[in-house]
Amino acid sequence: MTDSTKQTVRVWDLPTRLFHWLLATAVITSVVTAKIGGNAMAWHFRSGYCIFVLLAFRLLWGMVGGRWSRFASFLYPPATVLRYLRGAQRAGERLEVGHNPLGSYSVFAMLGILILQVATGLVADDDIDNVGPLNKFVSSAVANQASGWHAKVGQWLIIALVLLHLLAIAFYVARKHIDLVRPMVNGDKALPIGTLSSADGLPQRLLAAALLAACAGLVGWVVSLGG
Ligand code: HEM
Repeated sequence: MTDSTKQTVRVWDLPTRLFHWLLATAVITSVVTAKIGGNAMAWHFRSGYCIFVLLAFRLLWGMVGGRWSRFASFLYPPATVLRYLRGAQRAGERLEVGHNPLGSYSVFAMLGILILQVATGLVADDDIDNVGPLNKFVSSAVANQASGWHAKVGQWLIIALVLLHLLAIAFYVARKHIDLVRPMVNGDKALPIGTLSSADGLPQRLLAAALLAACAGLVGWVVSLGG
């Protein structure tokens, strides 16, 4: 690093990075297998359950994970977003360490829509031969509404949000010369001296592994309720 006012800061801990790339893989797999249909639907179910596990893990990690992965670190009021867009950052304010104010809204939107997509998938019935494991616990009216949302609205909202996500990342590279992808790969950013790091040692990674295992167990149990 040549800039003496900056230091290397661990922003994205390993669990957050693994979460991100596994989520991206599982979401792409879910969209592609839904488009193929037929036998590929077995993989649609599997990737959907993986997304369920990952989202449950991220909800917990948003509370106990590394400093910059915690929801509290990127829960910005709209006024801060407007100030960020105007470039009117206050002295000492650190708006671009983790998710910036604008990006944070897209992260919450993606997580929220994916949660809704998993929930509707669990009770959906496509009237062919794909039935969500929790379908038997809801009325046919609820199942119909859920299926409609899952296959139409939810699917397209996810595709739109992911495209927006990729466009925003491309915009940061092209216009602001900021590479957001590399930190999501190696975890680090060059930031002003004194910027606090996310803890990312063995204890945090073991905690993440234990939480992930617990989430997998929970999802396995929920799915097994369908018999
Ligand atoms: C289906 C595909 C994808 C989904 C669903 C997705 C979803 C997400 C989510 C939920 C986050 C927040 C991470 C967290 O705090 O837990 C995020 C962040 C991020 N994603 Fe993706 N992502 C996808 C594909 C990609 C791809 C292909 C790239 C790279 C080209 C990418 C680059 C990033 C980067 C750089 C961030 C951090 C942004 C920031 O610094 O605020 N994503 N993504």
